[in-house]
Amino acid sequence: MEIFVVPDAAATGTVAAGILAAVVRSKPDAVLGVATGGSPLPVYAALARHRLDMSGVRAFALDEYVGLPSGHPQSYAEVVRREVTERLGLDPARVSVPDGGALDPQQAAADYDAAISRAGGIDVQLLGIGHNGHIAFNEPGSALDSRTRVENLADRTREANARYFASPEDVPAQCITQGLGTIMEARHLLLVAHGADKADILAAALQGCLTADCPASVLQRHPHVTVVADEAAAANLRPGGVVAVRVEDTAVGV
Ligand code: GLP
Repeated sequence: MEIFVVPDAAATGTVAAGILAAVVRSKPDAVLGVATGGSPLPVYAALARHRLDMSGVRAFALDEYVGLPSGHPQSYAEVVRREVTERLGLDPARVSVPDGGALDPQQAAADYDAAISRAGGIDVQLLGIGHNGHIAFNEPGSALDSRTRVENLADRTREANARYFASPEDVPAQCITQGLGTIMEARHLLLVAHGADKADILAAALQGCLTADCPASVLQRHPHVTVVADEAAAANLRPGGVVAVRVEDTAVGV
């Protein structure tokens, strides 16, 4: 695992976008795994500045709420359309989000898992981390080999995501999420984190026990993980393996 520590949130975007851009340049038909939440937003902003030809790129989102009406601005289908597809110039037909409005969400989840495999698997999966250690919507207790499935959201996650909705009761109770086993099949995992509120969970996930109580700790088992954190989020990491970088020192700044 390589851990890059950069000064601030904008720099996490610059460094992570540089990694993604290098993948797309070397493989124009790359399959990207894209994430929602606040953490990846600086990454998409920085990646847009690379002005890459994204016409051959395929993308799969990590997760989706179950039960929001089609076109709801906070559905991840809409968030991904605004923040990823439009911003980066992806072909909408090559961007997939789990179908949270399906009559049979369990079947939709299984179909989604199969579609990722059919596409040849994910080359690089962008990830954020929740305050309770969730990745995608794999809440504490998720099996480390779980597949894409319907899940209940933890109260803490619903509270955290209430900021995007008019009232906390509007946050759906269920989701479809890629499983931890599904995520672990991506060839490269790229975790981004910024802000002091992520310091405890980032240290627990990367340097604590590998346990289903902290789903992100499963990353410790993956052969190719890159973490890009700002100084605030990295504050509790032990120094071993942590590389502080100045953006201007990396080959990836734009
Ligand atoms: C959400 C998403 C995750 C995301 C996490 C953290 O619930 N399902 O994919 O990583 O919460 O979000 P943020 O980056 O806003 O802290």
